[in-house]
Amino acid sequence: MDKRIAIVTGGRRGIGLGVVEALAALGYHTVATGVSPEAGEGLEKLGDKVSYFRADSASTGDRKRLLEAVEREYGRLDLLVNNAGVAPKVRADLLEMSEESFDRVISTNLRGTFFMTQEAAGLLIRTAEESPDKPMIVNIGSMSAYTSSVNRGEYCISKAGVSMVTTLFADRLAPYGINVYEIRPGIIKTDMTEKVTEKYDRLIAGGVTPIRRWGTPEDIGRAVAAIAGGALPFSTGEVINVDGGFHLRSL
Ligand SMILES: NC(=O)c1ccc[n+]([C@@H]2O[C@H](COP(=O)([O-])OP(=O)(O)OC[C@H]3O[C@@H](n4cnc5c(N)ncnc54)[C@H](OP(=O)(O)O)[C@@H]3O)[C@@H](O)[C@H]2O)c1
Repeated sequence: MDKRIAIVTGGRRGIGLGVVEALAALGYHTVATGVSPEAGEGLEKLGDKVSYFRADSASTGDRKRLLEAVEREYGRLDLLVNNAGVAPKVRADLLEMSEESFDRVISTNLRGTFFMTQEAAGLLIRTAEESPDKPMIVNIGSMSAYTSSVNRGEYCISKAGVSMVTTLFADRLAPYGINVYEIRPGIIKTDMTEKVTEKYDRLIAGGVTPIRRWGTPEDIGRAVAAIAGGALPFSTGEVINVDGGFHLRSL
């Protein structure tokens, strides 16, 4: 079977679903994960281009079960997209943030990304040894990796950590021809940002992003598809901002 196989964590909705849709259009078969029992409407629409596997990225056992299932079913892995992520349940000031919230956010966003990559590395390396098209890894980071939000510091810390995960695995896996990329989304319209819609509407209208609109899951899907389609073969550890220009400084 030479169909290219991807894993997209948190691929049931939001940015992850945008990525799964873009990969389906490229001809990938994607194993999308989530914590919900059902695949959901978005994935069901894609038919046999996708399968759903319930796996909590924060759980050692779930990560292991996922990779064993992918190896058993397809025998290869061409792309790992570490997208699963959570925001704090409560936006608490840095001086009051709880250890519980810190641990919850770090467990999925940072530990989950690191150990999912570690767990997948064996199958990625075996695929690289057997296939002329080298496997890749894409981490979905955030502009929060370098932007201070003092009412969700645990999220910022987790995304700053993801950035180093990108650097470390880019370095470690380069000898196998496995490139690692990070996409840094800006303000993207998903369930995660729903509660703060008004705030972001106001900021965007005021010019916080030079491109004055919300980003969409499709914007991120397009960026992942460009990478997965082979647009950046001589780049690894690279960060791609998909943020409407948020990262620019202007005077
Ligand atoms: N939205 C933004 O503005 C924005 C900006 C920058 C970066 N990001 C990052 O982009 C990624 C996706 O965000 P989003 O806005 O699409 O969020 P979302 O709409 O809340 O969707 C999150 C997805 O991740 C899954 N998920 C959550 N915890 C998980 C876990 N422990 N194990 C496996 N899957 C898990 C959810 O599964 P269920 O569907 O089963 O609940 C869901 O499919 C996150 O890493 C986020 O930090 C988002």
